[in-house]
Amino acid sequence: MKDRIVLITGATRGLGIAIAELFAQAGARVAMNYAHDDTAAKKAKEQVSACGTAELFKADALSENGVDALVEDVTDRWGAIDTLVLNATPAQYEKSIEDYSEADFASMFRAFVMSPHYLTRAVTPGMKAKQFGRIIHVTSEVFQCASSPFSAYVAGKGGQMGYLRSTAMELASFGITVNAVAPGWIPVERHESVAPEQKEKYLETIPLGRWGTREDVAHAVRFFADQDAGFLTGQSLSVNGGRTLF
Ligand SMILES: NC(=O)c1ccc[n+]([C@@H]2O[C@H](COP(=O)([O-])OP(=O)(O)OC[C@H]3O[C@@H](n4cnc5c(N)ncnc54)[C@H](OP(=O)(O)O)[C@@H]3O)[C@@H](O)[C@H]2O)c1
Repeated sequence: MKDRIVLITGATRGLGIAIAELFAQAGARVAMNYAHDDTAAKKAKEQVSACGTAELFKADALSENGVDALVEDVTDRWGAIDTLVLNATPAQYEKSIEDYSEADFASMFRAFVMSPHYLTRAVTPGMKAKQFGRIIHVTSEVFQCASSPFSAYVAGKGGQMGYLRSTAMELASFGITVNAVAPGWIPVERHESVAPEQKEKYLETIPLGRWGTREDVAHAVRFFADQDAGFLTGQSLSVNGGRTLF
């Protein structure tokens, strides 16, 4: 990982910060993206910098202009990005079919299809020039396991897998691999208010009998990023304690 230039969207809390820490520990230069919470970002940067080289890059990773500015900033600072981790998410709302609006669906497609497209489009010229690249999508088990009432999010994540498979095919001949890490429910800050009974119910469905951690997810992302993972593309790795065995 030494000298790798890694851009992680949504890297200031949740799964993203653990991914950032692991890449920094491994010697990469880590571009930590976020869009809103400056205080949390500053704290996150201090935490990740204690492990290695990291900088904050504030930009809306879900918008075309935001992505173009983001990739330009990182490239100006360190050179072409060779590892992209597509991780950012906006708020996700569970609603019944009757209650989901067009805007709800648009928000999920923007986050999980359009944003990955803007980012992939912006980084691939640099990766093609190097004949090397690693693109890792953080998707979700919900596409395989289904989840309700959550159809907008699940459809967004399904669209993300379709985009991933097509781009993996298109970019393969340039030495660029495109893969997914599909976590199960990994409790992070935003789950602090979830009822204990709801958590207990989910825990009972995990064959390995414990909660997954952010580090479990980060290690899977790191696996796909490795130089030695170059013969893997278009794949999805479930990080959910065996829930996709059912
Ligand atoms: N945690 C889980 O249980 C779980 C399970 C399956 C899949 N996933 C997937 O894993 C990924 C990360 O989820 P998470 O649980 O870690 O989320 P999270 O804790 O809510 O973190 C989201 C991150 O995205 C950033 N962000 C939000 N809007 C942004 C924007 N417009 N541009 C750039 N950054 C933005 C946030 O920072 P700011 O708010 O400061 O911008 C934050 O750093 C998502 O793709 C999610 O679908 C999570």
